Amino acid sequence: MSAAAELNEEADYPEVCSVSRVLGTGYNLPDHVVTNDYFASYLDTSAQWIRDRTGISERRWVEGDVPASELAEPAARDAIRRAGLQPEDIDGIIFATVTPDYIFPSSAVFLQARLGCHGGLAFDVNAVCSGFLYAIATADALIGKGIAKNILVIGCDIYSKIINKNDRSSCILFGDGAGALVLGANTAAESGGKDSGTQVVEARGVGVSGSGETLCGIYASELGADGRHTGILCVPSGTAAPVTPESIKTDAHYLTMDGREVFKLAVRKLAEINESIVVSQGFSLSQVDWFASHQANQRILSAMARSLGAPEEKMLSNVEKVGNTSAASVPILLAEAEEQGKIKSGDLVVLSAFGGGVTWGSMLLRW
Ligand SMILES: CC(C)(COP(=O)(O)OP(=O)(O)OC[C@H]1O[C@@H](n2cnc3c(N)ncnc32)[C@H](O)[C@@H]1OP(=O)(O)O)[C@@H](O)C(=O)NCCC(=O)NCCS
Repeated sequence: MSAAAELNEEADYPEVCSVSRVLGTGYNLPDHVVTNDYFASYLDTSAQWIRDRTGISERRWVEGDVPASELAEPAARDAIRRAGLQPEDIDGIIFATVTPDYIFPSSAVFLQARLGCHGGLAFDVNAVCSGFLYAIATADALIGKGIAKNILVIGCDIYSKIINKNDRSSCILFGDGAGALVLGANTAAESGGKDSGTQVVEARGVGVSGSGETLCGIYASELGADGRHTGILCVPSGTAAPVTPESIKTDAHYLTMDGREVFKLAVRKLAEINESIVVSQGFSLSQVDWFASHQANQRILSAMARSLGAPEEKMLSNVEKVGNTSAASVPILLAEAEEQGKIKSGDLVVLSAFGGGVTWGSMLLRW
């Protein structure tokens, strides 16, 4: 339990600290819709099987060669505009992806060039489906250290280029997409009207709420990995397994997955990390307004809700329409939920993700 939470165990509203908060969101999906019927047209599967076992009805795939930075650009521009900023106000870009434009330079620098905001930090993060959680936690830490002020955090993946379209157990799951969020320094002056009692305790703007107040911003994050499970979800192409004419002939360079094993680990870990991040800050699960969890499978989300004792209406879901978009999943979900008027200012939100590695991450924030 954090020091802030320990100090306020008895309080109805725990005292929390926050160095950064969400200023704006955006997302972008390719136009091309791929329905379940498409897979049924050439694989031994059915639209109904896919719908029943995953909750997915359709996903979007790019057409032709689209670099990740190109797919991300409209999402980034929307997030910057909704933050009330200009591209030149962005002094950091963190780009979560496992499908970058090139091996290097990073997609972050390609996006920086597209946006025309040169000079700030820019790098990619590879933590597979947990990549966005790793990226936003890193952005929060960099803002806390005063290294950057307004960081554009991107989750963007184009799995249609790395899946084996003849593997019915994996190719049906994934969609392409991009989500973006601008994270800015949290100061009393900037954090809106709700946190009237907020103190600015450091020059960089670490806000601390008192009892009964609703300080907006990121309260806490937790990240983890267990490298004993590298084999259950993997794209085996790289220095350990160079792409050769033979590997191409046998499709060995595409994504491989032990779906059943991933499913079991994901349900257990997601329930565990959602509960621990909430309790660590002195809140109870019933105080959470929205759970924004990685969209892998509706059955995983439902199992998680049951395990947490949370009403399923609080589990944001768009997996039916977009499938699993990996690092883009959580930011697309957040941007859509905000656009639809679901997540509102002052709501208590838990973000969480689980993915290849295996990796996981969670975050508690006040929107
Ligand atoms: C992939 C997944 C949908 C498969 O569903 P499942 O209920 O676990 O199914 P199983 O893997 O147990 O397979 C059951 C049967 O369905 C078959 N099957 C797999 N995909 C199929 C498909 N698209 N259509 C029809 N049958 C399929 C399997 O071959 C298996 O057949 P068998 O019993 O004859 O061996 C599910 O395991 C899943 O979503 N796992 C998590 C994947 C994930 O989220 N990955 C990304 C994490 S970030």
